[in-house]
Amino acid sequence: MLGHLLHRRGIDSIIVENRSQQHVIDRVRAGVLEQGTVDLMNEIGVGDRLTREGLRHDGLYIAFGGDRHHLDMNALTGGRAITIYGQNEVVKDLMAARANTGRPLVFEAEDVHVDDLDSPQPIVRYTLHRERYDVRCDFIAGCDGFHGVCRPSIPPDRIQLFERVYPFGWLGILAEAAPSSDELVYSLHPRGFALFSMRSPSVTRLYLQCAPDEDADAWSDEQIWSELRARLHTNDGWQPNEGPIFQKGVTGMRSFVAEPMRYGRLFLAGDAAHIVPPTGAKGLNLAMADVYRLAAALAEFYESGSEHLLDRYSERALKRTWRAQRFSWWMTSILHRTESDTPFDYRRQMAELEYLFSSQAAMTSLAESYAGTPFEYE
Ligand code: PHB
Repeated sequence: MLGHLLHRRGIDSIIVENRSQQHVIDRVRAGVLEQGTVDLMNEIGVGDRLTREGLRHDGLYIAFGGDRHHLDMNALTGGRAITIYGQNEVVKDLMAARANTGRPLVFEAEDVHVDDLDSPQPIVRYTLHRERYDVRCDFIAGCDGFHGVCRPSIPPDRIQLFERVYPFGWLGILAEAAPSSDELVYSLHPRGFALFSMRSPSVTRLYLQCAPDEDADAWSDEQIWSELRARLHTNDGWQPNEGPIFQKGVTGMRSFVAEPMRYGRLFLAGDAAHIVPPTGAKGLNLAMADVYRLAAALAEFYESGSEHLLDRYSERALKRTWRAQRFSWWMTSILHRTESDTPFDYRRQMAELEYLFSSQAAMTSLAESYAGTPFEYE
């Protein structure tokens, strides 16, 4: 996305990826796009397939105490909605757009390093097909994820890290089964959290709270369905449709923020700077908001020489990040159970959810955070 936003302002870039193109396309990740992300895809001309295949959702359900409660996000936010479209589909569309520009996109780069970050010409070094490359550039955007090389290249005394690791993970599956609800169902159950989602009219995506180091292969398909049925079925007879499971995996859960999101001419964006637990569906959207802001700042620099927006980047991006951290932590804490939880905690969670659905103000608060606020340029 950053590469394409820069291209549209006439700014050259080289994108260096250490995985293969196929890996990037196949890796199933998030699936909820905020309106701001959808608008951005359309604005830059890569939204055709998203418009055709994305599933627009005007609301969501939260199930607890055996009942499904509906949250009408559209009505509560004055018309905002989310769109279900896999992150890897977004990446596929952006890769096609990149290919059309003819600008460089390197896959399977090895031994990637960044250097001279506080000089006016930092360097990205990598090996491709046994050849060394040293790219001197004006700026480096560290969009290389939590495990990437950029953030750890910042001197430790110039960066502060904030972290919370949760004592659980999500076991996620994709199944060939038509979604049995038009909208997502988040469920608090005495056996733990579960989530019903989807990818298409014929593919259901489901998650179960599990141990952070759970071995997905230790679960038979029948065990997974039985646990999902137990945690998701509601008194009105609703439960997910079942079908062959064709993908499964375990995701750990953490909240993480690195401050500031800049060191010299290196700017961090997305998971390289912050991780949210998936309960709020914010990770991909935060990354999009970061690069939208970063592209505007770089464009201003090249157009006028001003570093005003570059200087504001970290502070402004962190404001949005902490807002999303607060929301994602809250969604996680009201819907998950931990071993140290007592019956008091479960009653408290139930009371929180009862309150939520009895109060227009509380529902509006959830809806506006979940739908997401418009991306800011400043
Ligand atoms: C997904 O469909 O993968 C998904 C949906 C909602 C979440 C997290 C993941 O909160």
